[in-house]
Amino acid sequence: MDMNNIKVFLSEEEIKNKVAQLGKQISDDYRGEDKNLILIAILKGSVVFLSDLMRNIDIDLSIDFMVVSSYGSGTESSGNIKIVKDLDINIQNYDLLIVEDILDSGRTLSKLIDILKMRNPKSLKVCTLLDKPDRRVSHVDLDYCGFVIPDEFIVGYGLDFGEKYRNLPYIGIVEP
Ligand code: IMP
Ligand code: MG
Repeated sequence: MDMNNIKVFLSEEEIKNKVAQLGKQISDDYRGEDKNLILIAILKGSVVFLSDLMRNIDIDLSIDFMVVSSYGSGTESSGNIKIVKDLDINIQNYDLLIVEDILDSGRTLSKLIDILKMRNPKSLKVCTLLDKPDRRVSHVDLDYCGFVIPDEFIVGYGLDFGEKYRNLPYIGIVEP
């Protein structure tokens, strides 16, 4: 792997501070007897964010994963989503928090939210580490957002380009 052509866009330190903030806010919002928080991460991109975020939340929670395909190995969303791996649990008794790496066109997430809402969870909110509003095609209500970023293709901290760079501890831009 050649990481020489990656320009740092968000450093490890910046990400760490933001994830701590988000975790605290989520803990405060969901604290209480009546809450049954479950973090739903969309694989694969969200896995690094989820693992850091959950360790910054100090209330009881569960986690589960979904695999939704939309992107393939290119950089454009196809507009169709397919559930490749569904949740293992019935979500009716849960307060769902969808954990996403990045919100781009919003096509994937808006369709996924429609599908999950039909299953009647107690509540459903969305947390994304990164938001690229310039690229939005389908509206998504964001409850928690780490960074609003310009329309650049970024990699690292779980995000890939052709399955590479997910293991970078920072978020960077691939330079040509
Ligand atoms: P959307 O349906 O267009 O919002 O696509 C969202 C998904 O596309 C994200 O969960 C990422 O997997 C992928 N994606 C969007 N923008 C980027 C990027 O800049 N770098 C890497 N993956 C991206
Ligand atoms: Mg993703």
